[in-house]
Amino acid sequence: ATITAQPQQAKSISDVLMGVFFEDINYAADGGLYAELIQNRDFEYALSDREYHDKTWNSTHSWTASGLQFSIDSVNAIHENNKHYAVLTAAQPGGTLQNSGFDGINVPAGSQYIFSIFAKPVGSKQASYTVSLVGANGTILASANLRFNGSNWAKQRTVLKAATADANAHLEIKPLQAGTSAIDMVSLFPQNTYKNRVNGLRADLAASIAVLHPRFVRFPGGCVAHGDGLANIYRWKNTIGPLEARKPQRNLWGYHQSAGLGYFEYFQFCEDIGAAPLPVIAAGVPCQNSGIGGGGQQGGIPMADMPAYIQDILDLIEYANGSASSTWGRQRAAAGHSAPFNLKYIGIGNEDLITDLFEERYAMIVKAIKEKYPDITVIGTVGPFCKGTDYEEGWKLADKLQLDCVDEHYYQPPGWFINNQDFYDKYDRNKSKVYLGEYAAHAAGRVNNLESALAEALYLTSVERNGDVVSMASYAPLLAKEGHTQWRPDLIYFNNQEVKTTVNYEVQQLFGAYAGTTYIPGTVTLSDAGEAVRKRFASSITRNKTGDVMVKIVNMLPVETTTSIDLSGILTKEVRAEKTELSGDPAGTGAKAIPTGISLNTKTNLTLAPYSLTVLKFKP
Ligand code: AHR
Repeated sequence: ATITAQPQQAKSISDVLMGVFFEDINYAADGGLYAELIQNRDFEYALSDREYHDKTWNSTHSWTASGLQFSIDSVNAIHENNKHYAVLTAAQPGGTLQNSGFDGINVPAGSQYIFSIFAKPVGSKQASYTVSLVGANGTILASANLRFNGSNWAKQRTVLKAATADANAHLEIKPLQAGTSAIDMVSLFPQNTYKNRVNGLRADLAASIAVLHPRFVRFPGGCVAHGDGLANIYRWKNTIGPLEARKPQRNLWGYHQSAGLGYFEYFQFCEDIGAAPLPVIAAGVPCQNSGIGGGGQQGGIPMADMPAYIQDILDLIEYANGSASSTWGRQRAAAGHSAPFNLKYIGIGNEDLITDLFEERYAMIVKAIKEKYPDITVIGTVGPFCKGTDYEEGWKLADKLQLDCVDEHYYQPPGWFINNQDFYDKYDRNKSKVYLGEYAAHAAGRVNNLESALAEALYLTSVERNGDVVSMASYAPLLAKEGHTQWRPDLIYFNNQEVKTTVNYEVQQLFGAYAGTTYIPGTVTLSDAGEAVRKRFASSITRNKTGDVMVKIVNMLPVETTTSIDLSGILTKEVRAEKTELSGDPAGTGAKAIPTGISLNTKTNLTLAPYSLTVLKFKP
């Protein structure tokens, strides 16, 4: 093959092309990215959190008592949003209440934790406890004593330091006297959260996302954003402020959402990894305009309630961008961030059915945002897949409303990605831009393998080529906890001890790290010009703002391919370049990108491994 760069035909492309999409699916938030280690810390789990009404799914979930009476009460709770708390009655000291965490608590040796709890004595003036981290065999790994006086709720915190390790520990709370007391908001955070944020994120998982160099983070869904029925629409205001005042709720994916990872934490995370925040808000209708699974209330938000709903969205923009003296900016400042978060993008809707019910509400929201905040990029939706009625109607609506951008989704077999590399070549450059908000190549058995990763890489070279119309793209879903994986494939799997990135992650990482803001066309000539062969070989050349040139070449052919790269339009002399190769068995799952140094001349011959993605980076 020959690749000839044509810099005279270069065009500007999006500088925020590669991002991530975080959704609380597969236990991605509670028990995942959110570093809280106590499951059901607030005793708010409810039968209705589960689709099939699992009877164990109630306020006592994850808690067990031995040697004392444990019940749930709701009279004089800490906060009206947090109605339930635990009452412990001990006939004599010695009993314990235990929390098993999310599949146990992983305690590395030498680790330190911030433990906090609300408690109040009941019927006496004092309650004291020993709180301990206890190993699977009963060894006490760390412990501390806490004492509460008076008869009102009070919060205390302490540091627990574990001398020895245990991968399957649990928490024990042991009242030190006979009598009754009440406890709530029992929390245990590792001291080293990502960037040491209070109420922060699990450091290793957050770091694995940061390594992708995402230019933006879309959150909190997906389907989670618009929810299962009207009452389940994700309301950002329920997720900010003191943890005990946040409103937990059923997660559409059939478990509990504590809201501990809420809008403030999302914005903070975006800032911490240098990514633009992209919140997605329901377009006044729940998931596909209906209640799914749990039988949520169908239809749209009543028109009489739409002004208040729209005001909530405008308030979100003020929360993110307003001065610290504005009504909502003040709330952000109170949470510890007086500077604005610089919100530039907002998504309205997700895979909605494009009906009259939808259109009416969507148009109202878009209009109101554009009127008050003309500089915010509004990203609409064009239904669940890039063809069919919703797609066509969604695009008509985008034209009518002159939307800045629309969100397209597709999960397809690798062959689809191989055969549709011209998908965006045909798009009208004068219409709305595209955010490819969810995509993944689903190989047979929905496994992560090199075949699917290379199909995504092939397609991404075409997305770069169309970076003047596709302004953002994010693989989906991002995270999945082992043992709780509801959707495959995902980009990153994890358990309590480990983060396991996939071969698809390698591709995302390479496209993220070697992104450019200018696309330089290159003619590709293959000696075997059969169409099936041509489609399995693709390349792109981009340049970033500092002048570095990146060449990405995907060889999805089963044979080694010698390629002559003609960079005479860019290079005048031989330079050292960085070459990174990802290759292996297409059915394999473990390939890693391997960097080496090479010399590049104006014309260089490269041998590309079968089933490979090769990335070259050089400074001309
Ligand atoms: O990514 C998983 C789900 O796929 C998202 O929640 C939804 O938008 C899509 O159907």
